[in-house]
Amino acid sequence: MSSSAEPVTPQTRHDLYATVLQETAHLISGVDDLVANLANVAALLRQRFGFFWVGFYLLRGDRLVLGPFQGNPACVYLERPRGVCWAAVLRESPVVVANVHEFPGHIACDPESKSEIVVPLKDRAGRIRGVLDVDSDRFGAFDEEDARWLNRLAEVLVPVWGED
Ligand code: SME
Repeated sequence: MSSSAEPVTPQTRHDLYATVLQETAHLISGVDDLVANLANVAALLRQRFGFFWVGFYLLRGDRLVLGPFQGNPACVYLERPRGVCWAAVLRESPVVVANVHEFPGHIACDPESKSEIVVPLKDRAGRIRGVLDVDSDRFGAFDEEDARWLNRLAEVLVPVWGED
């Protein structure tokens, strides 16, 4: 999370994530447009958590391409298999990086970024379509509890990929 926010207690974090999950479901309900949905969800996450950078990368062949986000301008193309985002895609599970300088191949879009969490996003068929990426300007901002909650968020986001 951002250094601008006070560290949250476990209960506060639980309540915050639980609320954000509900708000996300409400935001995307009835909206049949990927960009609109991801843009609104990025804005919601930034607003609720004060994340330093939060956004989506979309899987396009052997590249991840920048999608809707909130924060500083970021790298547009992430080439397979380098970086934290690709690690999450290839492992098909969340990747929590307490210190980005210690992650081999980490792609530094912003020198202020110090820790990161990336969660793969799947469609109804179970195919990975992209990732949710959150960066912090503090070391160790994310843990396995964040990974569990953001995985639940990924489940809430399944409808944004449509039927096919
Ligand atoms: N750090 C990521 C690149 C995306 S930025 O964090 C916005 C990575 O290593 O894949």
